[in-house]
Amino acid sequence: MTAHIISGKELAKNKREAMKQEVGQLKKTAISPKLVVVLVGDNPASISYIKGKQKGCEEVGIESQLIKLEATASEEELLSIIDQLNEDDTVDGILVQLPLPDHISEQKVIHRIVVEKDVDGFHPMNVGKMLLGEECFISCTPFGILEMVKSINVPIEGKHVVVIGRSNIVGKPVGQLFLNENATVTYTHSRTKDRASITKQADILIVAVGKPNLIGPDEVKEGAIVIDVGVNRLETGKLCGDVRFDEVKEKASYITPVPGGVGPMTITMLLHNTILSAKRRGAK
Ligand code: GUN
Repeated sequence: MTAHIISGKELAKNKREAMKQEVGQLKKTAISPKLVVVLVGDNPASISYIKGKQKGCEEVGIESQLIKLEATASEEELLSIIDQLNEDDTVDGILVQLPLPDHISEQKVIHRIVVEKDVDGFHPMNVGKMLLGEECFISCTPFGILEMVKSINVPIEGKHVVVIGRSNIVGKPVGQLFLNENATVTYTHSRTKDRASITKQADILIVAVGKPNLIGPDEVKEGAIVIDVGVNRLETGKLCGDVRFDEVKEKASYITPVPGGVGPMTITMLLHNTILSAKRRGAK
């Protein structure tokens, strides 16, 4: 079997076209969605991610503003900028790009963003609400993954979803999202014993580790749906996933590529959350 490719790029394009219409309609009612991205320092990966986010905003008509701080900026300085953005009625979404320099507490920063503008869905209140299945901002990468799986119209209920990785921004929340869809969810991570015996049971395998080419066909069940969240830059400058795409595609039924898979969908769900925030605020 050769797997069908779930193109995040294509799906993102379709969703963004619909969003563009929606933003056009909102602007007619004097609601103009705006996202502010804050970058501290000049991490090359962060700069590249931010460019993608700005381009996405432009595509659908969301106003975006980038606030750049020196790597030496103090925690107080960043927190005071967040306070100003929290108060600013023209701002619908606030995103502080991670990672932050070591002298700044990510936890303090994430807690400081008001829940209503936390379009990243990283605030503990949004994470908790997501876990409870309540209305909230769902963090963008897990949300994008769910949308990709839903796009192929294969029922999720009762499926065994195995997640490799347990980060706060991908692994942990993506498992919860699929649990909310009535999947049976198993987490594996760096301390898991005999990982392959578990991953080989997966109907849907979500790989979010950050190690190039970690997963080969020996860890995949015939016909599985494989979602590769890894974005690893090789020394050659080429991007590659956590999954050995060429080998695994011969065994899976569906697979996501890198690049052009989860990445474009993550940004698309950020745009979705920003529009949602603008609509909620406009409804008040
Ligand atoms: N760094 C890597 N991914 C993300 C993300 O989704 N949001 C933010 N704010 N920082 C990140």
